[in-house]
Amino acid sequence: MESELVETVEGSTRLLVPKEALVDKVPPREPAFFNPRARISRDFSIIAYAAFLKNFKGPRTFLDSLSGIGARSIRVANELKEVEQVFVNDVNPKALAIAEKIAKLNNVTNCVFSENEACRFLSLHSKRDQRGAVVDVDPFGSPSRYLDCAIRATFHGGLLSVTATDLTVLHGLFPTACKRKYYGVPVRAEYGDEIALRLILGCTNLIAGRLDVKIVPLFVQNNMHYYKTYVKVLVRTNDEEDMGYILNCKSCGNRHVTKEAKYECEICKSKAELAGPLWIGSLYDKDFVNEMISKEEQLQVDKSCKKTLERCKEESDMPPTYFTIDEIAHMKHSAPISLAKTIEKIQSAGFKATATSLNPAAFKTDAPINDILSII
Ligand SMILES: C[S@@+](CC[C@H](N)C(=O)[O-])C[C@H]1O[C@@H](n2cnc3c(N)ncnc32)[C@H](O)[C@@H]1O
Ligand SMILES: [Zn+2]
Repeated sequence: MESELVETVEGSTRLLVPKEALVDKVPPREPAFFNPRARISRDFSIIAYAAFLKNFKGPRTFLDSLSGIGARSIRVANELKEVEQVFVNDVNPKALAIAEKIAKLNNVTNCVFSENEACRFLSLHSKRDQRGAVVDVDPFGSPSRYLDCAIRATFHGGLLSVTATDLTVLHGLFPTACKRKYYGVPVRAEYGDEIALRLILGCTNLIAGRLDVKIVPLFVQNNMHYYKTYVKVLVRTNDEEDMGYILNCKSCGNRHVTKEAKYECEICKSKAELAGPLWIGSLYDKDFVNEMISKEEQLQVDKSCKKTLERCKEESDMPPTYFTIDEIAHMKHSAPISLAKTIEKIQSAGFKATATSLNPAAFKTDAPINDILSII
């Protein structure tokens, strides 16, 4: 029996989605996958692509390698007038049939639809003049198997956006699987969301290095079990050392970045755990985030995007990892104090401190844990 399609609106685009996708707790893969809860992530994509394309010189094409019903790509075609051509690809013909209907419904005419395995689709776009200005990889679970071909299909100076939803792997429940897929291991820590994003970037960077390509992270975002990284791809060797480890001491709460695998906590001398190898460079490009903030105002996106972007801007110069107010309260054996008050106290003591977009109840600081505990 044919599944009923119902209309829903995202941004300024009318979407047709299988009814079950809006009703069921876990959106079904049949007849085609659509996750209404990924709307914020698509909103951020629209903002990021708009900011990116503003300054991009070259053919402004978008390659959606795992498009599903085309929720992201047809929004791109409909909402970003800067885009010249959009390639919508999926292995599921039923998803593509819906995508074509959505394109018609929105009077969008610059989409090319294809039914290919994602790597084959991306390989067909690996010749220099066929590459995408923006390439998106949005699979079920881990993106690692698609990264080689996705990097090859991205224009020099283009943007590659990558989603991962294999939360249990990235959060340390299956370290062997994480090492196999991302070349690094996580630790189970309060700032697990940041570790997850850094593992995805680390893996992308290692693969890019093999291809003599440099990546520059512009923006990262997460909500629920959904991680997304946005990197600029430059066809040149990377001489910077942006890979390393995060030492995490369970005894005293210390965490710090190290280029070599060292296990001794420099504060309490206990044996600590190491997350990595992973990306230890910046997660955000401040100018890019500023551009996103100015684009956000012109687009129909969720109100929360602006606040998140303001936080990204604030935290863009801060060191890796964050502390949650609950974690600090637990160590102090007391009730948590507000985030604003915590930040104010740390700043008054002469350290840097900001909120973080990665967790609404957490802060970033350059103050070591023993200073934080004595300040609060
Ligand atoms: C998470 S969904 C994509 C969601 C979509 N990007 C969106 O924003 O709504 C993953 C899609 O990948 C497709 N898929 C799975 N394996 C694939 C492969 N090897 N090649 C191409 N498409 C694939 C599935 O049919 C599914 O539509
Ligand atoms: Zn320690």
